[in-house]
Amino acid sequence: MIIAIDGPAAAGKGTLAQNLAKHFHYAFLDTGRLYRAVGYAVLQAGKDPSDESAATREAKSFDPKSINKILSNPALRDEATGNAASKVAVIPAVRSALLDLQRNFAKEPFFEDGTPAKGAVLDGRDIGTVVCPDADVKFFVTASAEVRADRRFKELQEANKPADYDTILKDIKERDERDSNRATAPLKPAEDAYVLDTSHLNAVQVFQAALDHIAVNHE
Ligand code: CDP
Repeated sequence: MIIAIDGPAAAGKGTLAQNLAKHFHYAFLDTGRLYRAVGYAVLQAGKDPSDESAATREAKSFDPKSINKILSNPALRDEATGNAASKVAVIPAVRSALLDLQRNFAKEPFFEDGTPAKGAVLDGRDIGTVVCPDADVKFFVTASAEVRADRRFKELQEANKPADYDTILKDIKERDERDSNRATAPLKPAEDAYVLDTSHLNAVQVFQAALDHIAVNHE
């Protein structure tokens, strides 16, 4: 069983994905972290995230066996890393280098300790459209840019990190624009995705709406 969750930045995909994974006891892969890890590695190497050959080199150098360790780096959560991620994500060679990794995970999902799982939840931008077009369940989680910026702002404040609402809103809109308009695997709902607008829903309500959808359509 594969559950695909796509949507723009800070729409609540990650929270829903983790709640569903826990509920069904499935493995979870935050594919945004793969792109973040590439963006981070490029920045660490002192290169520009839009530099195709530098970004491709980093994407190809991932060892699938050490992926959990690479993805657990807390620096991947920084806004600067998110912006770098969305720049490397435009590069087709980066996307194809990460594609096998994601498909292999969907085919043979495993938990963080390496034990196999009977299902997987993957979240990202192109899971339902490109990575797992045959996923059993597809969600497209979205919310207005203002609501998303507000959520990110509060998250940063709670983590005692510097936060400026206007800068966050601008970054989110720029990222939406870049993610939606790129030529390869742009951000868009799969035709058979269930669209969940979370602008007026909290995390519990989003989780409930997703469970209701699965119960009615897939059980
Ligand atoms: O957490 P947030 O929603 O801010 O972003 P993320 O899911 O960590 O993804 C970071 C960036 O990676 C996105 O802005 C996308 O450009 C890119 N990405 C992608 O292109 N395809 C995916 N399947 C996942 C992320």
